[in-house]
Amino acid sequence: MDDTLVLLETIGRVGVITLNRPKQLNALNDGLMDALGHALLAFDADEAIGAIIITGSDKAFAAGADIAAMAHWTYMDVYRSDFITRNWETICQVRKPVIAAVAGFAMGGGCELALACDIVIAADNAKFALPEITLAMMPGAGGTQRLPLAVGKAKAMDMCLSARTLDATEADRYGLVSRVVPAADLRSTSIALATAIAAYSLPALMSIKESIKRAYEGSLAEGISFERRQMHARFASSDAHEGMAAFLDKRTPLVQHR
Ligand code: CAA
Repeated sequence: MDDTLVLLETIGRVGVITLNRPKQLNALNDGLMDALGHALLAFDADEAIGAIIITGSDKAFAAGADIAAMAHWTYMDVYRSDFITRNWETICQVRKPVIAAVAGFAMGGGCELALACDIVIAADNAKFALPEITLAMMPGAGGTQRLPLAVGKAKAMDMCLSARTLDATEADRYGLVSRVVPAADLRSTSIALATAIAAYSLPALMSIKESIKRAYEGSLAEGISFERRQMHARFASSDAHEGMAAFLDKRTPLVQHR
């Protein structure tokens, strides 16, 4: 495992995981998601940790799934490797509170990763979008299921069908984030919040988290498994391969609706 892809810190009872592919704006490739999953499980198993923070850089929390990696995958590749389910969903096994501290871009899978966290603290420069449609792809890491639960159907449809980007203020108003802070305060606010949470009884925190998840995740599992098959099927689309190739070539995609 490449242990440079996430940086780990322990601050009191708080475990901090920093996504670290700065040149690719923390685009989420298999190696990074393996490392993130490994770090999350390790902090979850550590008796000395009571809360976990996932963060990125000042410019990007994460710009989505790695388009360069996906560009040549076929339907069989993603179906057989169980893309997303295999490592992205490790976060769903974590029983301790997980806080996303988001500065800059949280696009596509980056936005979905934030949505999979329990609390989202946004810096005032944060930008949230599910722009997969611009690649003739679709959100495939829980976005079509968790976003409507967070912001309601009309706003979720608007974001997913038009690729609209929300700034931090809009994301706060929509209910996508828990609170917005000045970018310079993101780290200190997140650590202070995680420290306060981690001081509470861990079994009580875990019970609360499990119960709140139960409020909506009954039908979520079914929805996500449906979404995953639909997302895998996008790799059978020539428009999707053209969309990703065009992004990498920095040109406009030639959409053929196939
Ligand atoms: N995958 C791979 N590489 C990416 C990337 C991604 N998702 N996002 C950015 N990068 C790379 C760029 O290719 C670029 O690399 P080079 O320097 O080698 O050219 C580098 O990161 C910097 O990016 P930009 O030059 O584009 O930076 P910018 O500031 O001009 O724009 C941005 C930032 C608006 C976030 C833009 O990079 C962008 O639109 N990225 C793609 C966002 C996206 O479509 N995400 C969804 C991916 S699909 C997905 O996530 C599926 C799913 O549900 C799991």
